[in-house]
Order: sequence, then structure tokens, then C-alpha cells
Amino acid sequence: MNALDDFDDAATSRKDNRNAAIGKPIDRVDGRRKITGAARYAAEFKHGRLTHAVLVQSTIAKGRIASIDTAAARRAPGVITILSHENMPKLKKAQGGPKAKPLETGKMGEDRLPFEDDVIHYAGQHVALVVADTLDHARHAASLVKVRYREEKPLLTIEEAESTAYLPKASFGRPLQHQRGDVEAALAAPGVVKIQQTYTTPVETNNPMEPSATVAVWDGDKLTVADSTQAVMGTRAVLAQAFGIPREDVHVLCPFTGGGFGCKGFQWGHTMLAAMAAKVTRRPVQLNLTRQQMFTSVGHRPPTRQMIALAARKDGKLTALKHETLQPTSFTTEFIEPCGLTTSKLLYSCENVAIPHRLVKVNVAPPTPMRAPGDCPGSFAIESAMDELAYELGIDPIELRLRNYAEMDEGEKKPWSSKHLKECYQRGAEMFGWSRRNPKPGSMRDGDLLVGWGMATALYPGNRRPASARARLTPDGRALVQAATQDLGTGSYTVFTQVAADALGLPVERVTFELGDSEFPAAPTSGGSNSAASVSEAVYQVGGAIRTKLAAIATSDPESPLAGQRADQLTLSNGRLVLASDPSRGMDIADLVRRSRIPAIEAEVQVKPEDEKTKKYSIHSWGAQFCEVKIDPLLPRVQVSRWVSVIDVGRVLNTKLSRSQVMGGVTMGIGMALMEHTVYDPRTGKPLTDNFADYLIPVNADFGSFDVELLNHPDPVINTLGCRGVGEIGITGVAAAIANAVYHATGKRVRDLPITIEKLI
Ligand code: MOS
Repeated sequence: MNALDDFDDAATSRKDNRNAAIGKPIDRVDGRRKITGAARYAAEFKHGRLTHAVLVQSTIAKGRIASIDTAAARRAPGVITILSHENMPKLKKAQGGPKAKPLETGKMGEDRLPFEDDVIHYAGQHVALVVADTLDHARHAASLVKVRYREEKPLLTIEEAESTAYLPKASFGRPLQHQRGDVEAALAAPGVVKIQQTYTTPVETNNPMEPSATVAVWDGDKLTVADSTQAVMGTRAVLAQAFGIPREDVHVLCPFTGGGFGCKGFQWGHTMLAAMAAKVTRRPVQLNLTRQQMFTSVGHRPPTRQMIALAARKDGKLTALKHETLQPTSFTTEFIEPCGLTTSKLLYSCENVAIPHRLVKVNVAPPTPMRAPGDCPGSFAIESAMDELAYELGIDPIELRLRNYAEMDEGEKKPWSSKHLKECYQRGAEMFGWSRRNPKPGSMRDGDLLVGWGMATALYPGNRRPASARARLTPDGRALVQAATQDLGTGSYTVFTQVAADALGLPVERVTFELGDSEFPAAPTSGGSNSAASVSEAVYQVGGAIRTKLAAIATSDPESPLAGQRADQLTLSNGRLVLASDPSRGMDIADLVRRSRIPAIEAEVQVKPEDEKTKKYSIHSWGAQFCEVKIDPLLPRVQVSRWVSVIDVGRVLNTKLSRSQVMGGVTMGIGMALMEHTVYDPRTGKPLTDNFADYLIPVNADFGSFDVELLNHPDPVINTLGCRGVGEIGITGVAAAIANAVYHATGKRVRDLPITIEKLI
């Protein structure tokens, strides 16, 4: 289907279908604002007398600051102030804590406050901030700040730190060390086929297109901040705590976020520093991170070393599954990449399972969530190992997965809310032409090129959090709906407009949805793929609240055609409030608002998951990834020539944007499999590949055709519409599908990402 067909389809069905907007491939409602430059990103919030702040960062990985000489910098033109640990006013630690309400907390990306003391934990740590009248003046002065260090020997790698490994208990409240049955006995049992291998993934850096930026301004004791974030409410909470002021006195704006992939989900030191600089100078301050600073100041995906041991009977039934992860975190945060927590714990039916996670601390900048934390590198390991087992057993890899299909969540001992993974495998195999695959490695060719076909499972939890929204219906028949959620560039504006339109019975053209403002009703951090599932419910319910108010007006008005009807028999459709049983009887919504003689009908709702219901189920999204690679045997560069993804995320809110999300996830997965690697200087601990010339990510030329299908089976548990998020699942399974295809093409199993030419020679 091309874009024009999509559009016609949407236009015609809107006329005669009540749920006209949800599910349709509607173009981004904010698209025009973006391409005309009208969309305002954080760094574009300008103020009079704006000043510019530039960070000075540590050039060593461990030690103490011996002295900071700012004399030359202070004499430089335009300099207003220089902050460091020597003169920094006190900030308060800003952690939510277990008792805090979920919509009223943020989370710092690291536990340490900026400029807290003279201790250096990693290269790139902020050590000073120069504020000047122009950006050029600030950059020049920052280059004149002389920091002397007392250097100590850092721990930089998993290998160096391995003897200090420990087992953390939980990750975001979820128990981290999982065990069922007796895995060691099952691995030692006679007569089973075994696989035991170690898989490693490197540091990857989130690298959204828009670098993080903050513009802060104080008005007396009230703070306004434009910040590029995945969490306006979280940013508000953290700033309020840091400065010891009420949350209501902090206003955070972020109408557009130019990508985040997790690195803007937590709150970071530069945001606090911009606010502090504005307080000290009594002028608005702008602080932009450079691309280089994005490699140390807002997190990255930590490297992982994963050992997988599998045992199976000859018929393919798994008898043991062990998935052990060792991962470094920083000395300033304990971020965990929970590799086996979802994938290995629940994907396959197996009685004997052990999933230990071990952590070490290294003198590297703090890691943070990056698209599908845990599940993304975790699925590389387990889905590679399943492919190895399939070859060992001589069973087709899809067949092996079906023989171990989990009919329930055996980790949590709960039924699935909804699972159509079999259909994903079957449909994907059909679309890809899997039955034509000759499983023998090196057996398929395209001229001189080796051809490989690989597959893997995709999965990601179906998260939902409390959320709220408000709506205002005006006599012109238009609605304004607001929630303090975010759009990372992926479609929140559009899908919530669609949901609001259907809930209010209005065409999408008459609905405006606004987000990215902490003064709107609270909504959660856009992380863990939860925004669509959480905020859609609030938007849907606020439409219901408006309908109730309209129904009360209509049924109590003796001159209304709906006089005396029962309010619960009325529904909103095609701009009218009508009798559900006879849509010809009803009245125009705009007329109704006008007749009510109040300026607007308003409602606000707060919704949260129904725990009694949702806690009984395990809620996940599923998918199957199929990939074709072509490799020149003389210069074995892997080219992804064909991709098929079939994804089950419950009801699809917008087929075009969901497909784009999956394509984006797969593209990022191709980068993970073949290119991305943040390399650190072993002497200084500084990232060497801190730019887009050295840190490679895929471009259009790096892959061939994409075929993405979304199954669209509403989830009966997660929320009214039955939609789960689609932001992260697309990247899961991708690296494994590629590694499996590379093995099929070459007979070479690469267990260490990225799969570069030198590993295949
Ligand atoms: Mo996502 S990595 O949870 O923002």
C-alpha cells in the first residue's frame, strides 16, 4: 500500500465509521510544524539577555581535582561567572524514594549531584561551568580553565573489575535473580544435547538526533525550564527537590523531543547546572550538550558478557536454560541492563531455569536505559543460542521455538493477557518464504554472494502507568485535549489526537492535542514503551467524561430531541450526540455546547491500571524477525538485503506510525548488529568514537526492503482500547536474526557484536 492509498482509506472510512480515527494510517499531525521549522525544541526557547553556559569536563577517569585555575578564563571577554565544586551553592539530593507518587517523581541519571565534591569517578564528569554573554565567549573561556588532577589508577573494563562482581537484588523493583527447578542437575543429566556459549555486546550510545539542551530562567523563586526530555513531570520533580521549592513553582516545557531512545528518560546534571547558573547570574541560561558530551553526560548502553547454557532432549524439548549476565555499571549509579529478566525468564517453556545477573563498578560514565534495555542484548544471546541448539539438533529454528512455546508465563506463573506469537512466526515465515530455506550453511547463493536467512523472536513487556488528561470542548465544535506526556518524534501527538477524536465523536481535524508542558495533567515518563498504553486510556476516558456532561445537558433540556432519554444510552459520533440504538436521533455537539450557555464543556480524569485485573496476567508484546543477508566471500561485509517483522502489540493505534516505529527499531538493531561500538581510550577512559564519523549508525544504503506487519489483536487486559506500546519491541531479536543469518551464509558463528569484516575473514 502506498501513502496515497493509506490516506484515501483513512478519509473514506472516517465518514461512516464511528471509530473512524483509531487504527488509521494518519500522517503525523505535527508533521507540518516540523518541516516548516515551527516546532520548537528546547534549545530554541529564547529569552532577552540570554546567556550561554559551556561545560568543562574531566580528562581523567579516577582521582581528585587538585586545583582549578580560572583566572585566565575570568579575564576573557564576556564571562559572567564560573561555577565549580569550589563555589557551587548547595543542591539537595533529588531521589523519588519508594513512597513518592509515581507521577510526582523523577529519577536522576546518577546519584551524585553535579560539582558535589572534588572526586572524579569517570572521564567526562562535569568539573566546571562557564557562563558568558555569547556561546563563542563561553567556549573560549572554557578552554582557558586549567584543572590539575591527582590521578589514580581507574578500573575501566569488565575484565579489570571482575573480582569485585556482586549480585544486585532488583532492577526497578523487579527481582533480578531468577531461579526455578534445578538447572545444574538438568545440565549434568545424561542423554541431553547441550550448548554452552558466551555472547558479548559492546557499549552503545543512544545518540538521538537532537542533543540534550536546557534553557533555564528564574522569575523570583519560580523556575521555568525548557528541557529536551522524555519526562516533563520527572524533570519538574527533580528540579523542585534540588532547589527545595514546591513543584508548582517549577514549569518544564518540552513540546518536541528530537529522539531520546532512553537517554532523556532520567534527569541529568546539566539540567540542574543550567538552572543553578540562571539563579546565580539572575539571567536566562542556555546549556547545550555537544555531540561529544552526549557520549558521557546522558548515559549509554553498558557492555554485557552473557553466558548461555541450554540442554534439550533429542526432540528439542528444553530441559535446562541458564542465562548469566555480567555487566559493568558506574560508581555514580547502579544501572542494570537486565539481560535475562524478560527474554530468558518467560520466552520458553522450561522447568529448570537460572538467570543470575552480576554487576561490577567501573570508572566509566553512568549507563542508562537504551531502547529495550535488557531485552535487546538479552535477546541477542538467547536467540543466538537457540539457533545454535537448532543446528545441533537438526531441527528447524522456528520448529524448535514452537516445541518450547510457553503457554503461560512460567517465571511468574501467570496466564498471558494476550499472546499471538505463533501467528507472528507463521505469518512471518509465509511473508519471508522461509520454507524455501536450505538450512545447510553456505548453501544459498546469489551469483558470487553468499546468502543467509536467519530469524529470531522479538518481545517486550506491555507496560502501563497512571496517567491523566483534560479536555475542553468549545462552541465552535472543536476540542483541546492536554496531557503532560512527550512526543519523542514517534507519534504521540498523532495517536492521542486519534484517540481523542474517536472518544469525542469528532473528526481529527477538530481536535488539538497538546503535550510537553508540566502544567498539563500529569503523565508518566515516556520510557519502557508505556506512553501509548497509559495516556491513551486517560484521553479515552476524558472523552467519556465530556460525553456524560453533554448527555446531562441534552437529556434535561425539554426542547432537545434527546429530552428524557437515559444518559447511558447516548453516544458521541460524527460530531453529534445520538441515541446509540437510533443514531438518526440526536443533536450536533457544537449546538449543544452553544445552548448550554457556558463557555466550554471541560473535564479532567486520572486513570491507573486496575491492579486486581492486570496483576493476574503477564502482559507482553511479541514478534518474529526474519532477515536475509548477502555477503561477498572475498570482502565479507554483511549487507542486510531483506527484512520481515511481524509484531503483536495488541490494538494498533496508527498503522503507519507503528510500522515506522518498528522500522526504526529494526534499523537501530542493524546498527547494533553490524556497526555500533563506543570505543574507550584504555589510558584515559575517554570515548574515542564520540562523533558520527567514528561511531557508525545505519543509513538508507545499509539495508534493502522492509516488510512490517502488525497483527492488531486488542489486548483484553491492559486498557480499554487494548493497545500496548510499540517503541522498543522492534529492536529486540534483530541482532540475533542477523547473527543467525550470517552463520547460515558463512558457517561462522559470531558471538561478539558488532559483526564486522575482520570477525568474518
Ligand atoms: Mo526507553 S530505553 O525505556 O526510554
